[in-house]
Amino acid sequence: MSKPRGVLIAGNWKMNHGQAETEAFFASLGTLPKTAGLEAALFPPATSLGIAVARASGKGVHIGAQNLHWERSGAFTGELSPALLLEIGVRHALVAHSERRQYFGETDESARRRVEGAILNGIRPILCVGETRAEREAGQTASVLLRQLRGALPDASAGAFLDGRLIIAYEPVWAIGTGLTATPEQAEEAHQIIRKDLWDRFGLEAAGKTLVLYGGSVTPQNVASLLACANIDGALVGGASLKPDSFRALVAAGAEALK
Ligand code: PGA
Repeated sequence: MSKPRGVLIAGNWKMNHGQAETEAFFASLGTLPKTAGLEAALFPPATSLGIAVARASGKGVHIGAQNLHWERSGAFTGELSPALLLEIGVRHALVAHSERRQYFGETDESARRRVEGAILNGIRPILCVGETRAEREAGQTASVLLRQLRGALPDASAGAFLDGRLIIAYEPVWAIGTGLTATPEQAEEAHQIIRKDLWDRFGLEAAGKTLVLYGGSVTPQNVASLLACANIDGALVGGASLKPDSFRALVAAGAEALK
């Protein structure tokens, strides 16, 4: 297999697709390619999670939440706990997406608690990291990535998580929703920084098992060139995951990359 860790194609619907649209999406999704090592996941808004779990059944698509809290229950208005998600069949969650960091005060410390709460409760977290345009232009990409990774995955506690359950998404902020995809070279360079930090701190086996996805203006047209990079194990896709045809094409490209 040319992708030793497999491939995950994940779609982040953000604040789009209510229940009726979610129903319509799955009605026209059809069958996704089934290939060993290939996984697909969609992250609808919270009110569409239930219907998405029901309609995704048998279609080979995991359904995940766009955020989760670390406690099992309690006085945390507006949050969803791992237990609430598990109860409706949700076993994946995004953590610290750049829009959460930018607009809702998400920090590396809250990301750390969310990752830990997810793993300890049986949810696979996708921890999102990535630099802004100003940080890239100032030559700070590596230092930002290392700060975010070390903040959310401190040496002491995170080693035990790195058995393939944790997923990381590199999403340069300047590439999200802008049409400005990182070049495969820029993306691969950032993925190497991430993989090397995992290797340095947690060992070769942990680094080798962790899926690192690229996100930021991924489309059916550019996904193959990104998946061709050695350290890119899949894609986290916003806009291009909203239409069934486009999502199916992205998953098909994932299957191709595994050949
Ligand atoms: P985009 O979003 O594909 O629309 O750029 C990616 C993301 O925010 O996860």
